[in-house]
Amino acid sequence: MATGGAPFDALSSLDPETFAGESRAVINFLADYYRDVDTYPVQPQDLPGCLRALLPDAPPENGEPIDVILEEVRTHIVPALTNWQSPKFFGYFPMNASTAGFAGEMLSTGLNIVPFMRVASPAATELESAVVDWMGKLMGLPDRFLFSGGGGGVLHGSTCEAVVCTLAAARDRALSRLGHEGILRLVVYASDQSHCTFQKGARIVGIPRSNFRVIPTSASSGYGLTSDSVRDAVEADVASGLVPLYLCATVGTTGLGAVDPVRDLGELARRHGMWLHVDAAYAGSALICPEFQHHIDGAELADSVSMNPHKWFLTNMDCCCLWVASPAALTSALSTNPEYLSNVTEESAGAGVVDYKDWQIALSRPFRAMKLWVVLRRYGGAGMRAYVRRHVEMAKWFEQALEADGRFEVVAPTRFSLVTFRLRPRHEGDDDAVDALNRRLLVAVNASGRAFMTHFVVDGKFVIRMAVGGAMTEMRHVQDTWELVREKAREVGALP
Ligand SMILES: Cc1ncc(COP(=O)(O)O)c(C=O)c1O
Repeated sequence: MATGGAPFDALSSLDPETFAGESRAVINFLADYYRDVDTYPVQPQDLPGCLRALLPDAPPENGEPIDVILEEVRTHIVPALTNWQSPKFFGYFPMNASTAGFAGEMLSTGLNIVPFMRVASPAATELESAVVDWMGKLMGLPDRFLFSGGGGGVLHGSTCEAVVCTLAAARDRALSRLGHEGILRLVVYASDQSHCTFQKGARIVGIPRSNFRVIPTSASSGYGLTSDSVRDAVEADVASGLVPLYLCATVGTTGLGAVDPVRDLGELARRHGMWLHVDAAYAGSALICPEFQHHIDGAELADSVSMNPHKWFLTNMDCCCLWVASPAALTSALSTNPEYLSNVTEESAGAGVVDYKDWQIALSRPFRAMKLWVVLRRYGGAGMRAYVRRHVEMAKWFEQALEADGRFEVVAPTRFSLVTFRLRPRHEGDDDAVDALNRRLLVAVNASGRAFMTHFVVDGKFVIRMAVGGAMTEMRHVQDTWELVREKAREVGALP
């Protein structure tokens, strides 16, 4: 173990011996964390400022030993964490960690290369192009999204970033026809279930706020869009001189896991010259199983598709796959070519050379392909399908348990591994009281530290979301959580 305190540590900060020793200490620390995380409260019962009060006002002047630092992580930081890798974490959507994801991340971060252009690291660029093609094939995407089929993909850090890039590409494609002043006429369409990133992205690329249409959905379509409702909105806009620009279809919405009809929306988008984006941030992982691939039937009509391996695909944060049918549409919106980045040889600037700086917002970027490649190599398609199916089965079990207990209702069909439920009203008109009861139920479950869930509101109703998908979640955790929900339902006043 390196000694701390000496002011010169920073001058030999990549000394291989120290690197090996200190990294081993961190890995041992994390292995202990994964071994014990099941016994920690999933969400800490902390008070705001509890960590801040323990930290000095300024950084140390002299470096400290890694074991002292790790001890402080153990005593100060871990107790105030919400433990996303707990097998009883069912909030938001899962953010998977795995041994292979960690190994890939270590390789990426250890090599610490920056593949913003092919010449800046040829192997990283080629690995990225290969790995996004692999993922596209696993998910059954049409060939037009693969490099081998004339399209291509890139690894971003998040769906939010990917969406901004596709909106910029769609905007520039439209403005090349309309002229720049046309931006005030461009309209973006999403559903009331689409992720808020579309609204934010539309603002960032300059679409007037009043030109963002939020199209209502309802229980009758399982909270998916209907092409009739989108068509009505589009036709009304066209009649008033506006220009439909971009339509978002979601496969697996955040609140309820709803699915929009990709083919119907694709046909409509084609008729009106709109860019269609398919957001499969969470449920994209399920699309590797043939039984889920009907959800992207019609994807050949889309312009872009995205999904997050960092959610439910055993790939540590961060990693989002974005595929486009026309790389040129993306790069013409995003490319820059300052002298200090221009390619100096003919081969490096040749046709077909991918410079990923032109496929994203930032210039510098990590070697994410390494991480996804290690995950795919280590677990394989069959392993990943088994992984996804295991969670789907657990979610089905939980849904059936809810249905068998007359006090609960399942709010939207459980299509993947997200279960949405609530205690049902006992009388006509007691909706407010039932909302309050469900709120108390969620608070009680989370306060127990024995599970963590989040909520959503649909049709004015407070709904509890249980997103199964943790790397360490087993059926027994789901069964224990069901017992917990029943116990807390009794405590908050739901009649037995
Ligand atoms: C359907 C959907 N789209 C987009 C996002 C945003 O993803 P990111 O956090 O990678 O930007 C989420 C996040 O949960 C999501 O569920």
